[in-house]
Amino acid sequence: MTRLYLIGFMGAGKSTVGNEIAGRLGVPFIDLDDEIESRASQAVKEIFSTRGEEHFRALEREALLAVTAIERAVVACGGGVVLRDDNRVTLKSTGTVVYLKVSAGEAIARIGDADTRPLLSGAGGGLAATALLASREALYKAVADIEVETLGRTASEVATAVITDLEERGMW
Ligand code: S3P
Repeated sequence: MTRLYLIGFMGAGKSTVGNEIAGRLGVPFIDLDDEIESRASQAVKEIFSTRGEEHFRALEREALLAVTAIERAVVACGGGVVLRDDNRVTLKSTGTVVYLKVSAGEAIARIGDADTRPLLSGAGGGLAATALLASREALYKAVADIEVETLGRTASEVATAVITDLEERGMW
């Protein structure tokens, strides 16, 4: 393994599961949103509100490229990382990609206060989640090496499922 990228919708548990996997495998954990925030000295929510989504996507691209310079890491990506063609090429060509699956309803339930997720905040959050997930599902699947269901599983169980699947396929 060089880099293990976790992708999937907001609320899929990428950061929690990623942390757990990194701990068990003994490699560094990187959260791409945290990386973007520290590089921009601004919270994701503020970047969206002051500079817009397009600017956020450019920062996300830069942060992803920076991560490819790190030899071994588990990287939790933001849910929209797959939107750019160049990001999908980078993910596929620089690591193993794990798609953590979640339904829109479960994602909203897990996120709770969507205030930190600018794309889901406000009264229409539930509808936005359903539409966004539907529009992204094919992109997540296109870039994924493996897909792991998170519904009904704890983060620890998901981490075990990911590691077991990787081992069975000789990817780890
Ligand atoms: C986004 C997901 C968020 C964050 C930003 C945009 C998206 O990350 O990058 O709010 O477009 O799905 P998480 O998936 O970690 O919540």
